[in-house]
Formats: sequence, C-alpha cells, structure tokens
Amino acid sequence: MAKIRYTHPDGSETVVDVPEPNSVMRGAKLNNVPGIEAQCGGSAQCGTCHVYIDEANTLPLPPMDEVEDDVLYGTASPRRETSRLSCQLPVSDAIDGLVVHLPEVQS
Ligand code: FES
Repeated sequence: MAKIRYTHPDGSETVVDVPEPNSVMRGAKLNNVPGIEAQCGGSAQCGTCHVYIDEANTLPLPPMDEVEDDVLYGTASPRRETSRLSCQLPVSDAIDGLVVHLPEVQS
C-alpha cells in the first residue's frame, strides 16, 4: 500500500491509498482521479498516462526502459527531465508518499 499524491495543473491535488499490485496509473483509474487517460490500458504504448515526478522526489523508482523512453517522446504535453509513464511505476511500500504532477493534456 502506498499513498500517492496526484497534483493537478490548477494546483489542486488528489491523495489516494493504492494497494499492491497496482501501478501509479491504475491507482488513478481505480480512484477516478482525472487527468490520466491510459488509452492502452497500461502496456506502455499510448503515452496518455504521462506524469511528471516531483522534482524533490527521493523515493526509489524503477529505471526507465527503452520502450518507455521511446513513448515519452510522443506525449501530448512536453517531455521533461522528470517525465515518466505512470503505468510503468509499480506501487509498493517503498514509494509511499510519491508525488506526481499531471500534465495539462494527455492526448
Ligand atoms: S497506459 Fe498507455 S502508456 Fe501507460
């Protein structure tokens, strides 16, 4: 279980407890958090689960693989240093308190 904090472009935020096994994307969908479309359902193909990891993050996240890296070049909102696909971020106790910022648009 991890508490994930989704920050919206208007500055508001939604905080939810996400059980394992789930991804940060799935946690948003299960809790009706707006701003993550996830059109491909989590198979790292659509780029519509794009998030920006908070710049102050020190929690351990899995490294980005080649597929995720490629998809992040095609996102609707600009790719940044902190960009990740939320479907590729598994939830665990280790990322309890993770803060992700949602982009202006996903598609
Ligand atoms: S849900 Fe499609 S890339 Fe993550």
